[in-house]
Amino acid sequence: MRPKYLFLLALLLGAAAAGAVIGRGAAKPGIKMSEFGKMPDGQTIDLYTLNNSSGMQVAITNYGGRIVSLTVPDRNGKMDDIVLGFDDLAGYLGNNPYFGALIGRYANRIGGAEFTLDGKEYHLAANDGPNSLHGGLKGFDKVVWKAHEVPGAHPALELTYLSKDGEENYPGNLKVKVVYTLMGNNALQIDYSATTDKDTVLNLTNHSYFNLSGQGNGDILKTQMMINASQFTPVDANLIPTGEIRTVEGTPFDFRKVTAIGERINGDDEQLKLGKGYDHNFVLDRNGHGLQLAARAVDSDSGRVLEVLTTQPGIQLYTGNFLDGTIHGKGGKVYGHRSAFCLETQHFPDSPNKPKFPSTELKPGQTYHETTTFKFSIIH
Ligand code: GLA
Repeated sequence: MRPKYLFLLALLLGAAAAGAVIGRGAAKPGIKMSEFGKMPDGQTIDLYTLNNSSGMQVAITNYGGRIVSLTVPDRNGKMDDIVLGFDDLAGYLGNNPYFGALIGRYANRIGGAEFTLDGKEYHLAANDGPNSLHGGLKGFDKVVWKAHEVPGAHPALELTYLSKDGEENYPGNLKVKVVYTLMGNNALQIDYSATTDKDTVLNLTNHSYFNLSGQGNGDILKTQMMINASQFTPVDANLIPTGEIRTVEGTPFDFRKVTAIGERINGDDEQLKLGKGYDHNFVLDRNGHGLQLAARAVDSDSGRVLEVLTTQPGIQLYTGNFLDGTIHGKGGKVYGHRSAFCLETQHFPDSPNKPKFPSTELKPGQTYHETTTFKFSIIH
């Protein structure tokens, strides 16, 4: 063949290959940036959309480090957004229960909104009855992060934030870095790191609300759940751990064997009544350090499977018990009671007041580092 025809043939083959990829609904792997809205002071907030080669897409905003959408295939290759949230920044600026947010400085609750560190008492804002919840009045979910694309084999977005000494009454200038990496195997990896210049406490997590059938598509009671935990931390009437580490054996908290979320959720159980469903920290069965399987959720209708792997000692299963249909989210979808579940990897709630729980203290010279991966696949 003459070189000219060879060149044309190559062009045609190239176009066919590109067409095949586009035909499957996949965009080119990479990150696209667009405007998400404006803060009340006029500051522009961005949305970063990460695509991998299998068609998975994750959109993250630098307002509160929030995962705005997460689109994965079902068993027939149909793409759906499977996290709750809003179409624009204005939705997130309004009242909402931490949809998709990066939570800090202290994820979950600190009882009585106070703790003592190195003999000094710290008083926090009580924003959940008498407790401090999810970092206080203006936690990491409500601040603007600096965003950078990280060069490398996979699309990765780095968010950084300097939480000044005394912010929300926590001690120490805390430098926080969170990197979201979208892997080729439909896994979203979140790497958290932080350093401080004074002794402080720290507990970071992500507060995504998942509905594997698609956001706004009914409740999650049929979702099959496995949690790799033989123990959990029972709570008092304020949802603060009593300090006891209790076996799950013989309780509705035993998810070591796969069970539908809804199978026991309305049972006659004191802990379920206190949480109005599941809103509890599970003590993960871990074997040394490193990323280990914490939970697996399976939606038999769509075939979507979510696996959560983490370096953290605990995971909060929250079953959207406070959702009541008043919030209208993306595409006008109504978020009803238990229309999503959260799997928040974490240190145990109220650890600063519970000397027997694994420590959440961070000291100058140390680097906090935790990783959590949300990995998606399908079953047939
Ligand atoms: C966490 C808490 C819940 C609730 C939600 C937000 O998961 O444990 O009790 O506050 O956040 O509504």
